[in-house]
Amino acid sequence: MNHRISAQVFDRMVDHLNNGTTDQADSVLHVPVSNFALPEHLARELEVFRRQWLVGAMASELPEPGSFVTRDILGSAVLFVRQKSGKVATYLNMCRHRGGKVELEDRGKKPFFVCAYHGWSYDGDGALRGVPFEEQLGPVDRGCNNLHAVNCEERHGIVWINFAADAPGTLTEFLGAADAVLADYGLENSVIHMDKKIHSNINWKLVMDGAIDVLHPQFLHPTGVGKLIQTNASVWQDLGRHGRSFSVYKKLAEKIKAGTVEPEDRRYVTGNMVLFPNVNLIPTPDHFEFWNVWPDLKDPGKCFIHIRFVVDAAKLDERIAGRINRSWEILEQAALEEDFPMEETIQANALARPVGDFLYGRSEAPCQHLHRQLARELAAAPS
Ligand code: FES
Ligand SMILES: [Fe+2]
Repeated sequence: MNHRISAQVFDRMVDHLNNGTTDQADSVLHVPVSNFALPEHLARELEVFRRQWLVGAMASELPEPGSFVTRDILGSAVLFVRQKSGKVATYLNMCRHRGGKVELEDRGKKPFFVCAYHGWSYDGDGALRGVPFEEQLGPVDRGCNNLHAVNCEERHGIVWINFAADAPGTLTEFLGAADAVLADYGLENSVIHMDKKIHSNINWKLVMDGAIDVLHPQFLHPTGVGKLIQTNASVWQDLGRHGRSFSVYKKLAEKIKAGTVEPEDRRYVTGNMVLFPNVNLIPTPDHFEFWNVWPDLKDPGKCFIHIRFVVDAAKLDERIAGRINRSWEILEQAALEEDFPMEETIQANALARPVGDFLYGRSEAPCQHLHRQLARELAAAPS
């Protein structure tokens, strides 16, 4: 089963294969090379990130009341906690005494959190609970010394967070048309089967570009993905801030040639959900590839790529696990041995000569989208 490929998308893809066409943007896009190389530009992008709803954690990482996860996100230490009520709350992992992390473990289950420095403790709902030697130290105002809360919402199996200090738009507004697509994916029931963290010498946007670039498979991956996926045949579905980029297995072109196309052949079309600013979510028959690409805080030439393979808990058995592991090997070979090394050459060139533009052609509508949306967000940013 492939995930929710509509008849329109399928027909459009069949047309492209018949006619040697692909979806096109209205115009070409020129993106300054300096956008990949200058720390000042990165600093402005990070401000944009802090106003978006971002993927903080998977809901399955917090299975029961008291479950917690700590994580550094965009330079902030964050603590996710499943409340007694079942809801997830998110706090800065920062003691109100003098700023220590109140939780040092990556994950676990606790009824309350005790700062290891001077023993201040906090309930799971962030309320300051105990202050050792308070009589001599104090007074400490209980109402004003709870953990700092971070905007957070659990939806579609994901814990979303937003660092905006003033009221951000709602998650519903942020997701827009992507909300219904995510609901359809049913990620609520999924668990993390594989969790890979890669630090690379590449600007985050180049990694995002590479993951949806349908113009390169036959050239960069001639013996691997390029043999399977049709190069330069893509359908782009604009979902406002977000979008879906569809590509197609060559197998469908063969079936068209043989005149044996049938409705089940939708399985040869794959849709890659791109959530602004830094998520690629790729449904496969067995699992979802979930890419989160985080900019480095200082260096535009570095990023942190977090790839999770998530799978429906009820479906996960030995056979499926074997197929998912094989799928990781294919991804690893293409990404680590071919995509990332090429992107590193782009990055090195951009840093050495941050002048002029890179071209995103009309046939590269999915890649254009990130840069167009980012430009809109940067223009709207308070200066
Ligand atoms: S910094 Fe946490 S108790 Fe002092
Ligand atoms: Fe690639």
